[in-house]
Amino acid sequence: MALDMEAPSFFQEERAAYEDERSSPEAGSNQLFRLAYHDPGRGAYLYHGDAFDVMAAIAAKHPNGCFDMIFADPPYKLSNGGMTCHAGKAVSVNKGLWDKSEGPELDFEYTKRWLELCQKLLKPNGTIWVSGTHHIIHIVGYAMQLLGYKILNEIAWEKPNPPPNLSCRYFTHSTETILWAAKNKKSKHVFNYSEMREDNGGKQMKSVWQFLPPAKDEKNLGKHPTQKPVKLLDRIVRASTNKGDFVFDPFAGSSTTGVAALAAERTFCGVEAEIEYIDLSNARLLSIPRKTSRSY
Ligand SMILES: C[S@@+](CC[C@H](N)C(=O)[O-])C[C@H]1O[C@@H](n2cnc3c(N)ncnc32)[C@H](O)[C@@H]1O
Repeated sequence: MALDMEAPSFFQEERAAYEDERSSPEAGSNQLFRLAYHDPGRGAYLYHGDAFDVMAAIAAKHPNGCFDMIFADPPYKLSNGGMTCHAGKAVSVNKGLWDKSEGPELDFEYTKRWLELCQKLLKPNGTIWVSGTHHIIHIVGYAMQLLGYKILNEIAWEKPNPPPNLSCRYFTHSTETILWAAKNKKSKHVFNYSEMREDNGGKQMKSVWQFLPPAKDEKNLGKHPTQKPVKLLDRIVRASTNKGDFVFDPFAGSSTTGVAALAAERTFCGVEAEIEYIDLSNARLLSIPRKTSRSY
């Protein structure tokens, strides 16, 4: 969605329903999901509901896609009773029911379903970034290959200060993988090469990135158990989109993607199933200073 363009029709209709619902809340705009946050001045939309329902509804209106870039931080399916170390204490790694594995076959079916919807929602030259650990990322890569995505890069996000390994029977886990892929083999993807080189002191940027976990001030409006650092999303957004482009996140959590997108003058649509993270997202999105004033 370039800065001087109208929002895609799905969003124009949703915006009208959102205004109606605000003037008569009992009416309700949709039974499956609702637009929980909308900022016409910045082209920001946040849905409370199931990502599959929202994606299917958008795809029905936009069969050739409407998003320039998607960042997906899906359930990693790692909440299976393990322990980790936090502030010197042993704590459970369980993030919530949404993160429980159902076994490799069902995890694969689930992953392939949402990746298929994301592929439909990408514009022809659009790209997707998906983060994960070994619990899910190989399934993501395999599903991407089956669906005909073109894998562009495999980023290793290295955390300089990982929690120690309590069992002392493994190397300390200190990376996450982020796969970057284009919609298909024909896509002419955006890569802001010069900007990335400049960020890297004039040298080509490598595919190993070091970022600390979110700083304290990124959690002062509330916490999400798997919140990503804004700096990581800022790099992803600036590397693969231009100002005004429409960025989508199907598993928005605390909306770090939206925070980075709006701060970099991109537009944003997110979906989140849990109401507490919708509230946190609202607070975070509202806190981003405005740079442009226009109506989407
Ligand atoms: C790994 S977290 C994303 C964290 C996010 N990147 C951030 O920085 O805050 C995944 C999120 O997806 C949400 N979720 C899981 N399944 C979902 C679904 N089917 N539809 C929408 N949201 C879902 C969870 O509630 C959780 O907040």
